[in-house]
Amino acid sequence: MTTTKPATERRTPHRTGYWIIDFYRSDVGKKWAMAVTGIVLLGYILAHMIGNLKVYLSPEEINEYGEALRELGGHLVPRTSVLWILRFGLIASFGIHIHAAYTLSFRNRKARGPIRYDSDQRFLAASYASRTMAYTGTLVLAFILFHLADLTWGTAPAAPEVWERGEVYANMVATFSRWPVALFYLVANVALGFHIWHGTWSLFQSLGINNPRFNQWRRNLATGFTVVVIGGNLSFPLAVLSGIVGDTGFLA
Ligand code: HEM
Repeated sequence: MTTTKPATERRTPHRTGYWIIDFYRSDVGKKWAMAVTGIVLLGYILAHMIGNLKVYLSPEEINEYGEALRELGGHLVPRTSVLWILRFGLIASFGIHIHAAYTLSFRNRKARGPIRYDSDQRFLAASYASRTMAYTGTLVLAFILFHLADLTWGTAPAAPEVWERGEVYANMVATFSRWPVALFYLVANVALGFHIWHGTWSLFQSLGINNPRFNQWRRNLATGFTVVVIGGNLSFPLAVLSGIVGDTGFLA
């Protein structure tokens, strides 16, 4: 004879004794983790876009900015050590964000089972939003891997013969002078735009701040943030393609 455990009992994972791990294992904990790591990642892409604006000042300005990041902490610490601490924080945030997103959507799909709710508009809207988040998130992940190989490591297919360590300005101009690469940056940043718009909007829900009175405020914040970050990011390949940013500087 087979005995079936009640559904609630089956779904409760065993406790580890570490509250943070037990919290993360719950759906609410995963949503919190996505929201908190999402805020870190949003902060990073805003800071990264602002830093890249130095391309409009001069080649020296952006090259020195890249060098200053490696020199963070000055002579008090070994070179690049502070940068590596920041990188580890960023990598951990990425890892947790992706793990929580993947396990949450897998769990939701499993809980839903084979039943389709074609007539339930709320379900359709929710699954549309989460589906596009999965697609845009995957495209952004592919973009980041290419972007690192292209501009940070110089190992992307067409980059090795033009890429030079520390020559941030020249590397950027060289990469965006190849229109298929520039086009990929444009498409990926539009996808990132959809992702961060929905992410900024829904992170408040995940943190339990969901009073409808703030909906307009949340919508404005999500739109403003997305327009600033993605507007800046789209401007870089477009500026190189149109010749506004040339080999030797802005309008030069
Ligand atoms: C058109 C838009 C972008 C431009 C022009 C750009 C430019 C650059 C450049 C020049 C570097 C290398 C800096 C150096 O070697 O000192 C870099 C690194 C990086 N970029 Fe971007 N980036 C853009 C968009 C993005 C986006 C959208 C993301 C993430 C979603 C991103 C994530 C990164 C990361 C993680 C690094 C490595 C940073 C490090 O650890 O040194 N970038 N980017």
